[in-house]
Amino acid sequence: MKRRDLLQLLTAAGLGAGLPAWSVPGAPEKTKRTGSFSLDGTRLKFFHPKIKKEFKTVMIADTHLFRDDERGLPFQTYSARMAKAYNQTNHYLTGEPTNPEKSLVASLELAAKNKAELVTLIGDIVSFPSEAAIEFVVEKMRSAGLPYLYTAGNHDWHYEGMQGSMADLRNDWIQKRLLPLYQQNDPMMQVTELHGVRILVFDNSNYQISATQLQFLQQQLQTSQPVLVMLHIPLYAPGRSVGYGCGHPQWGAKADRNFDLERRERWPESGHTVATMEFHRTVFTSPAIIGVLAGHIHRPSLDIINGIPQVVTEANAVGACLEIEFIPTA
Ligand SMILES: [Fe+2]
Repeated sequence: MKRRDLLQLLTAAGLGAGLPAWSVPGAPEKTKRTGSFSLDGTRLKFFHPKIKKEFKTVMIADTHLFRDDERGLPFQTYSARMAKAYNQTNHYLTGEPTNPEKSLVASLELAAKNKAELVTLIGDIVSFPSEAAIEFVVEKMRSAGLPYLYTAGNHDWHYEGMQGSMADLRNDWIQKRLLPLYQQNDPMMQVTELHGVRILVFDNSNYQISATQLQFLQQQLQTSQPVLVMLHIPLYAPGRSVGYGCGHPQWGAKADRNFDLERRERWPESGHTVATMEFHRTVFTSPAIIGVLAGHIHRPSLDIINGIPQVVTEANAVGACLEIEFIPTA
């Protein structure tokens, strides 16, 4: 969807200029929500009485960097397809030719200009785990000097055709290559707090949530603070394809059309784990959660599930990022 179309859609739905507080009439006290949000293209604002001070963050997903050098030669049979996938892109607003490296740098410049207090890198920042691409990201984040959190997408750790389960390959390549991006944080789940807002970042880059991640979510939700959840693969929303594949009831071997193309383990016959489905249920019944932010789809979208907005950002490969503002209300 073009940005203009999205804006028209949002304006038509009355969402472009700020919603009234969205407590659900008649809902039991413990499930009542407070606050509101607005979305104008790539600008997302959350309003909540427990936000202590106005602040901004930037979320970046799906940059798909493909830089490589002689160290990547032994891996070329595994990186060839994705190395060509995003060589030249067109900017999502201007249509002008651009590329993933320019897009990442421009988004970090925007974050600096906005005085963003946090940058979140929410997966598929690289198209495969080449040392050169990861070094590029580490260096750009260092020179930007902005605090950041990183989580993997389904491509960051994936060399196509390499033998092994998704869970094992993810673990291997996080340890071998991606580790510096985590800055000592747990690659599977992270939390940070800014001015009364709790931000949770989960790795669901194999489309699943583990029992440990579910437990972490449950613990972190024992709060009256507003909580924002970020993960690469969007959570299932009614009517959406299995691309919105975390907690999607149809997710599994039968719905997996890309395992041959991506040369990876096929999704399991048994579908999602119990923990994944429970994670989805917990998120969308929590009174604390003010929003869910994701990437992966490479097209902007908004779903409101039980009053909780899930916003998917356009890919950074075409120059987009999400500017997020948090604003206290009386
Ligand atoms: Fe992607």
